[in-house]
This record gives sequence, C-alpha cells and structure tokens, in this order.
Amino acid sequence: MSPIIHHLSKNESLSKTMAAQQFSFDVLAGLSDTPKRLSSKYFYDAEGSRLFTEITKLEEYYPTRLEAEILEQHKGAIAHQLKGRSVNLIDLGAGDGQKTLILLRHFQQEGIDVKFVPIDISEAAIAGLLDVIKSEFPKMECEGLVSEYFRGIHWLNTQQDDRVNLVLFLGSNIGNFDKSHARAHLRQMWTVLNPDDLLLVGFDLKKDIDLLLHAYNDSKGVTAKFNLNLLRRINNELGGNFDLSKFRHFSTYNVFSGAVESYLVSLEEQDVKIDALEIKFHFRAWEPIHTEYSYKYLKSDIHALAENTGFQIDAEYFDTKQHFVDSLLRVKKIDS
Ligand code: TRP
Repeated sequence: MSPIIHHLSKNESLSKTMAAQQFSFDVLAGLSDTPKRLSSKYFYDAEGSRLFTEITKLEEYYPTRLEAEILEQHKGAIAHQLKGRSVNLIDLGAGDGQKTLILLRHFQQEGIDVKFVPIDISEAAIAGLLDVIKSEFPKMECEGLVSEYFRGIHWLNTQQDDRVNLVLFLGSNIGNFDKSHARAHLRQMWTVLNPDDLLLVGFDLKKDIDLLLHAYNDSKGVTAKFNLNLLRRINNELGGNFDLSKFRHFSTYNVFSGAVESYLVSLEEQDVKIDALEIKFHFRAWEPIHTEYSYKYLKSDIHALAENTGFQIDAEYFDTKQHFVDSLLRVKKIDS
C-alpha cells in the first residue's frame, strides 16, 4: 500500500480555513493576554520546520543527537520487547522522522511487520517523511496525519486489530507540556491503549545549567531565527506588520519550575498591526511575549509520572552522561 496523507477533514479547504481561524483566534487571545504569549505549536510552518531541523544539527543542541545515539544503541532491546508481534508504530510529533528511521530500519531488518502512523502539525514535515518512507520502505503500510497530538489518540481509539501499539513521544516533546498537562496527556494515552502496549517517551534530564542555556541560545543564532519566525508567520498568514529587527530572542532557565523558558522581547515601544484581526497591539519597551516552556526532568520525576498514570517502566535507556533518557513505559491495567 502506498503512503497516503490524511488531513484533519476530508474537505481539505474547509480544514485549512478552520486551521487559519484557529491560528488567528490563538494569536488574538495570546497577544491580548498579560503577559503576552504565543503558542509554540505555531513554530512549525515550512520555514519553521526547516529551521528546527537546522537546530537539531547544532553541536549545542544536544537532545536530538543524544536521543539518536540512545536509539542506535538500544534499538535491539526495543525490538526485543515487541516479542515478534506485528506493531502499530504511532509517532507523535514525528518531525523529519530521522530518529524514528533508526527504529524502522532495524525493525525491517528483524522482519517485524510494522504499520507506521506519523503525526505532526507540520504538513511539510509529514510530506517529506512520507517521501522517504515511500522510497526506502515501498511496501510498508503507512498513514501520515497532519494534526495535533489528539488525532493520535483518536486514531488509536478507532483501531481494533491484534497488533501491539508502540507509541513514540520522542525529542522531549513532553517537556513542552507543563507538569499537569504531561500527566493528563500520559493518562489519556493510557485510556486508549491496550494492556501491555508500549510508550517510548524522551525526557531531557536536569543537568548543568550552562549546557541548558547554550542549547537554547546557540552561537550561530539559528534558535533566534526559529523563535522570531513565529512573528514572520503572523506577518505572512495574518497580514501582520511585525518588524523582526525590533524583537529579540531570549531563553532562560527557571530553577524553580525546572523549565527553559523562551521569549521574544520587544526592543522598543511600538505598535504592531494585524490585518486579519483588525487590531493594533501595543508593546512597551522590553515587554516579552512568552513562546515556549521546555521542562527538564529528574529520574524521580519520571518514576512518579509513570506511576501516577498507570504505566510500568520496563526500561530506561540513557546516553553515557545521563543527559537524556528514553523511558519505555508499559500499559498496566487491572487484568494485565
Ligand atoms: N521543543 C523544542 C525544545 O523544547 C523546541 C525548541 C528548541 C525551542 N529550541 C527552542 C523552542 C528555542 C523555543 C525556543 O527543545
């Protein structure tokens, strides 16, 4: 079966209009709030996805590199946990899929029958990934979904086959949820999964603060461009007139909350007009817009999170310095 892209709705133009309306609503709500905020889910237009891929290749941005090393090292152990069963591989926030390909290649080698379901908010990312799958694994069953994570939950809910589900939630995507949302998300996964299904979750661990700061303030300025691209996207899609040279990227680590916090800071007092909203937003000099939290975990936080949401930790795969971990969580229900 050749890979197919499924959109939010069968009526593609309607879903695009709805997505545009959601974007304008979220921008309106966020920039009207005090303090101002914009959701990080809007980072990933085609240019944002390209910039994020560039970030993942930077020396200073260690999470992607370390997680790729971890998967390379432990792909055999992960395959072993599937016990020769056919598998639905659901990839939440697949992005360019580079890390997932490490597993897919290995599963193929081992003769494991895989149905691959990558889900990503970026249409460009899913289209690119499906091209790779088509040429490298022409026979693999594959269904790409351009959507937020909840479509993954919905997809799982509609499946009634005897495949084991292996859900990937890699790249410390879970770190972009605050702690209570992370718990709710894992619990929601638990409710739609079957006993003994597996969830492989990437957690970025608490570590030397300078390493954290450099990962989010790289010396080539790619991260700054990535964060500022959010304003460019508003200009492009909602008729905004943000002058990108009048804002700066700023990321800092909050030792109390355990999150790297990213902001765009207005360098001067200014008004920004957004045509689609017919509104002018006022910025005071040095006023921030919050754009993303990236929560960092202790091992003990992960253990508590798994326990509180009904999962058993089957394995913890670390890099040699224990800067990052992929935790393999198994669904436990009363009858399992
Ligand atoms: N989700 C990624 C992370 O938390 C995205 C990211 C990397 C990011 N660098 C950033 C988001 C800088 C905002 C600013 O690591």
